[in-house]
Amino acid sequence: MKVPEHVAIIMDGNGRWAERRGHPRFYGHVRGTKQVRKVVRTADRLGVKALTLYAFSTENWNRPAHELNVLWKLLKKFIRSELEVMNKQNVRFRVFGQIDRLDPELQTVINEAVDKLAHNTGLQLNFAISYGARSEIIQAIKRFGADCLSGKESFESLDESKLNQYLWTAPLEGLSDVDFVIRTSGEMRVSNFLLWQSAYAEYYFTETCWPDFGEKEFVKAIETYGCRNRRYGRTSLDEKIDPPSSIVH
Ligand code: IPE
Ligand code: IPE
Ligand code: MG
Repeated sequence: MKVPEHVAIIMDGNGRWAERRGHPRFYGHVRGTKQVRKVVRTADRLGVKALTLYAFSTENWNRPAHELNVLWKLLKKFIRSELEVMNKQNVRFRVFGQIDRLDPELQTVINEAVDKLAHNTGLQLNFAISYGARSEIIQAIKRFGADCLSGKESFESLDESKLNQYLWTAPLEGLSDVDFVIRTSGEMRVSNFLLWQSAYAEYYFTETCWPDFGEKEFVKAIETYGCRNRRYGRTSLDEKIDPPSSIVH
């Protein structure tokens, strides 16, 4: 099976999943966290090299405080409880986003986890938290501009690979381009996720809400990727076919 190297998932539909079952929205977030474990394990088993999970967007700051509290508690709990498992799995963990906006205690939990798993060489697991692709690009331009003013860089040197070095995904190096984006819950939009890195990604949308997106669904999505023909602007034909002379002349 052809497996994408970098998979990115917009884990959507927790609230609706819960509401449809007569539960408060937070119930969906709790169930959603369980799916993260399964998907990380499956990605590792399938040979995915990098997995980026959209956990919280810059726009999600506009949600009610009680929902944010639940999300931060669950995130803290997830990192604490999964740390040893991830270490045993040789998982490398990173977080992309405006981390300085998070509660200091949560920042400490994140930083400790990142440090503890820093030596690992297996699956590169990334959480996009307080993440927005536009803010990522803006901070990259600002830092590059500052480096130009200080003489460390020159404006002429700016090209695609240089900008890559200033994005939050820079540590992924050759894996920073996304091959496959999955979005659950039936929404057909990108919601400010990895706009630069997924310029040539394949997209997969499913009606399944995140709390129901388990191993089977994930494998099904990856199999779909295997059938995609990525052309990057080229033709899919290997052999050269001359056009009929009536078109050329
Ligand atoms: C995704 O589920 C989780 C986050 C955005 C944090 P939602 O909370 O967006 O659930 P819906 O889309 O409202 O159902
Ligand atoms: C996108 O989901 C962000 C995450 C999954 C973390 P949203 O539910 O916030 O996106 P919109 O509001 O439907 O675009
Ligand atoms: Mg949503």
